[in-house]
Amino acid sequence: MQTAIITGASTGIGLSLARELAKRGWRVALAARRTELLDQEVARLTAAGHTALALTCDVGDAEAVRAAVARVEQTWGPIDLAVANAGLGDPKPIVDMQLADAEYIMRINFLGMLHLFDAVRPSMLARKSGHFVGVASLAGFRGLPMSGIYSASKAAMQAFLEAARVELRPHGIIVTTVNPGFVKTPLTDRNTVSKPFMMSAERAAVIVADGLEQHAAEVNFPLPTATAMRLLRLLPNSLFDFVVGMGAKRLVGPPK
Ligand SMILES: NC(=O)c1ccc[n+]([C@@H]2O[C@H](COP(=O)([O-])OP(=O)(O)OC[C@H]3O[C@@H](n4cnc5c(N)ncnc54)[C@H](OP(=O)(O)O)[C@@H]3O)[C@@H](O)[C@H]2O)c1
Repeated sequence: MQTAIITGASTGIGLSLARELAKRGWRVALAARRTELLDQEVARLTAAGHTALALTCDVGDAEAVRAAVARVEQTWGPIDLAVANAGLGDPKPIVDMQLADAEYIMRINFLGMLHLFDAVRPSMLARKSGHFVGVASLAGFRGLPMSGIYSASKAAMQAFLEAARVELRPHGIIVTTVNPGFVKTPLTDRNTVSKPFMMSAERAAVIVADGLEQHAAEVNFPLPTATAMRLLRLLPNSLFDFVVGMGAKRLVGPPK
């Protein structure tokens, strides 16, 4: 039986992915801060005949992530799949940016992923085997109005994961970047912006798990949003500014 660790597995995409992987025969370690949610889910998975472990851990704390990974390794042995999924972001105009909020988003979304990578790297390198995954976002394909810091954190993840994919292949380590569009989770429930082609977290988990089984370099979904974002990435700045600027005016409003 193969072993996976997933951060941000108390709700949303991480929770659904943990359930999906368990259904596919994986042993799953669920990491997040809310212990009671993790314990409930582990009890549910165990009662259904799966093997699961709850890990209370803040991904912003490198030591805590190292300790969580060590606990999985001590309990079950080496980790085959590590998914850096924990993340957050609230739509906010850049004129209202608070430096402390921006630092926090970068710490959880970007450094949180590096903390997990740093913790699983020694064993994966030693075994010349393993799969490292980062859940970034289609919002990282270009800087999007109202999502400046969030887009930046996801673009940082994408750049790191791309470099890692190339560098780590000769070491036997597979790297996958997951870029969701809108998925219905507590994160998207919190904001009122329009969410075209939004899908359920359960459906998203099936798409992600399929992509991981195929060792895909990238898992981009849903198709219409992924295609639109790919096209947006190809636009020259003048055209991008015009097209996206129209939407931005509506979202951000006139200068105060
Ligand atoms: N939903 C979407 O439309 C969408 C689209 C693109 C990308 N994404 C990305 O998908 C990932 C999952 O998001 P989601 O939509 O499933 O949101 P969610 O339901 O709010 O889940 C976020 C998860 O991250 C955990 N988390 C937050 N801060 C943490 C911290 N400091 N340490 C450890 N865990 C932490 C939360 O658990 P605790 O609060 O218990 O710690 C929760 O389990 C995020 O990286 C998000 O950026 C989501």
